[in-house]
Amino acid sequence: MRVLVTGGAGYIGSVTTAQLLAAGFEVEILDDLSSGHRAALPPAALFHTGSLLEPATLDRVFARRFDAVVHFAAHSLVGESMTDPLKYYHNNVTGTLALIDRVAAGGADRFVFSSSAAVYGEPEISPVTEQAAVVPINPYGRTKLVMEWALADTARSAGFAAVALRYFNAAGAVGDLGEDHTPETHLIPRLLRSLLDPELTFAVFGDDYPTPDGTCIRDYIHVQDLAEAHLAALLWADAPGLTAINLGSGHGHSVSEVIAAATAATGRDIAPTTVPRRSGDPARLVASNELALQLLRWRPQRDLAEILRDAWRWHRRHPHGHS
Ligand code: UFG
Repeated sequence: MRVLVTGGAGYIGSVTTAQLLAAGFEVEILDDLSSGHRAALPPAALFHTGSLLEPATLDRVFARRFDAVVHFAAHSLVGESMTDPLKYYHNNVTGTLALIDRVAAGGADRFVFSSSAAVYGEPEISPVTEQAAVVPINPYGRTKLVMEWALADTARSAGFAAVALRYFNAAGAVGDLGEDHTPETHLIPRLLRSLLDPELTFAVFGDDYPTPDGTCIRDYIHVQDLAEAHLAALLWADAPGLTAINLGSGHGHSVSEVIAAATAATGRDIAPTTVPRRSGDPARLVASNELALQLLRWRPQRDLAEILRDAWRWHRRHPHGHS
């Protein structure tokens, strides 16, 4: 199978690319390196530098057709999407529409799309199933939902198979591939980096949530489990139209529990300060992963302890990230 991976120099994209190559797929990457890292590019994949917003780049990439497209490339900082929403609509939505257009014109048979739990906003039920109302509460989540809709409508009318994978909290590392965002906003890398660099502070964002220990509950999923789900989705996608599938562990962990797991993984004492809530954080976000099990035969294999162990190993070996 020939697969185009957009955003293959990014965190989840690079891990998935490595796994596709290991499974014998022929992979080409399209990435503009605006947030991805050259060091994360596997040499065995053909690399196209460029953006989905450049028609000439898409002409070059789609000179040959693909069996499948796996589309990671997107801006993904929730906070930034609130202050600069057009950056998100422009890159995420306009770029994705250009890609969908190429696939609909015969550029590929299958389309796997990186969606997000952000499409649910603040769900009233937990664990959240794919049938829950989609009410995103920030522009990032809204761009993901708009792209799901555009993909659903086009996949149905043009007759290609599409899967939207709604990631919960991706975390962990695989070999030399780990999490390196600028700025880094995510809990686990911020926590671990603060142990390696005394100049970086770490704080818990609120301990007055309606949860047993007062801190927010999330569903952390190992990036290798996520990558395996992409392979399963690629092989499963067949019927025209879009299927949206949650990718989470099905288990929730509070911020305090993550700190306890980090203490165990690192052997360090961690005594964080607590600051007021970060705006827009739902109290609890946990996936139902029944549909992934049923359709993709995918079940996560790695728990929170393994996530922290792998992330810690990566951050110690890469204290300055990929650079
Ligand atoms: N947190 C802290 N301190 C930090 C960083 C985070 O206490 O320094 C807390 C947050 O308040 C939250 C939890 O840790 O309760 C997890 O926060 P992350 O930023 O790691 O992840 P989010 O759940 O906010 O974001 C994730 C994905 C987004 C997606 C969102 C959907 O990373 O892409 O879920 O709600 F949009």
